Amino acid sequence: MAKVSPDVGPKDPQIVTLFGATGDLARRKLLPGLFHLVSGGFIPGCRIVGLSLDELDAESFRTLARGALDEFSTRKIDEADWAAFADILDYVPLAAGPDALRGAVARAEAVLGSHSQRLHYLSVPPSAALSAVRLLGEADLVQRSRVVMEKPFGTDLTSAVILNTRLHEVFSEDQIFRIDHFLGKEPAQNILAFRFANGLFEPIWNRNFIDHVQIDVPETLGLGKRTGFYEQTGAYRDMVVTHLFQILAFMAMEPPTALEPRAIGEEKNKVFRSMLPIDPEDVVRGQYIGYRSEEGVDPESETETFIALKCLIDNWRWAGVPFYLRTGKRLAEGQRVISIAFREPPKSMFPAGSGVGAQGPDHLTFDLADASKMSLSFYGKRPGPGMRLDKLSLQFAMQETGRIGDVLEAYERLILDAMRGDRTLFTTAEGIERLWEVSIPLLESPPPVRLYQPGSWGPKSIHQLVAPHAWRLPFERAWRDPNPTGA
Ligand code: BG6
Repeated sequence: MAKVSPDVGPKDPQIVTLFGATGDLARRKLLPGLFHLVSGGFIPGCRIVGLSLDELDAESFRTLARGALDEFSTRKIDEADWAAFADILDYVPLAAGPDALRGAVARAEAVLGSHSQRLHYLSVPPSAALSAVRLLGEADLVQRSRVVMEKPFGTDLTSAVILNTRLHEVFSEDQIFRIDHFLGKEPAQNILAFRFANGLFEPIWNRNFIDHVQIDVPETLGLGKRTGFYEQTGAYRDMVVTHLFQILAFMAMEPPTALEPRAIGEEKNKVFRSMLPIDPEDVVRGQYIGYRSEEGVDPESETETFIALKCLIDNWRWAGVPFYLRTGKRLAEGQRVISIAFREPPKSMFPAGSGVGAQGPDHLTFDLADASKMSLSFYGKRPGPGMRLDKLSLQFAMQETGRIGDVLEAYERLILDAMRGDRTLFTTAEGIERLWEVSIPLLESPPPVRLYQPGSWGPKSIHQLVAPHAWRLPFERAWRDPNPTGA
């Protein structure tokens, strides 16, 4: 693999302790991501100590890591790079306790030197986060370290406040990195560039010109081996209170005074403070048929595998503009789309039957895939006699820039940022606590789950939720192929 200039990465070597090292996230994203960062030369020296409840030795952990790379890496694996990576992997079963962990980190430090930094990555559910933090304290691994906390951060306001308090008994706030990987997605950062590096759209980015916004993240994915985690979590805690609200904040925030953590955090928190509490009447919870018979699921489970809701931001910019959010498992398509619907013209001089307005309002659409796309749709004249109108669009695809190979996956970007101590794209305790606060009415009185067919777009009542508007997905017109000749 081509080596990159190391000045984008941390200055010092890094020892990563990876809690939940055999879990789904580690296998899908963290191990492949660390492999890319290490083999790409982003980190000047790295060793990784995996931890989990599984009784493995280092060799079987290496085998597991290789399996994960084969299954989930999006890039080709060079065998020399793999051999070097396998060499930096170590493993400690959690049952071995603090002394064994301290010993493994000491061995890594003996190789990398005493100036190396420690990155503790807690890829564990909220219920296991505190015991991992305690173990790190007992193993005396708090110095020279940063700790990355996975979402969801707590399960409600009370547990998030307790988690913050307990966390602060071991780590100081400047050591804590609360991760939300949607903020590490290249197109999420591009929302900031698009809004604030250009003068064109910001003047119309408000209630006078925007009718409503949709943040729609349907997934075709089922739950696989994650039912244990998901039964306790559900779609709202897994996706909405985390990823979808964070994206909403990038969409809705005022221009920050600088592109730095405090300024961005302040503006995002203002959005969260302006959010009205979620009204259960504005929420559709769904569960796909068949979920209750999956292994590890309560046969009477009320956990939602789907959620759609309306959310309001009661400030001068957004008062009265509904933000519709939707996400769920085993739906018809996998998409990550933000769609901004502009107001329609107040009067139309076009004759009846001309087609104006027939295909919905003009939209600005962001696709949050790594190979991101954007589109601006508008009505234009169909060539030929008379005045017939068609929906047309201007589209941009990142692939056309020829720089798609430079994209870091979200986790890679954020791991690198945490190693560098840059918290610009991380969430804040205040923001998270406020999001749990607006969630209270919903968490206290959730509407009953409605069943939906796998492969559908969710329960039927989603249409009432957005009426008189309509869900933007499925798209009436597909994205244009950015590379139609295959050249
Ligand atoms: C994770 C959720 O945080 O995000 C998963 O726990 C979800 O349930 C995933 O599938 C989606 O992330 P991405 O990057 O694949 O869109």
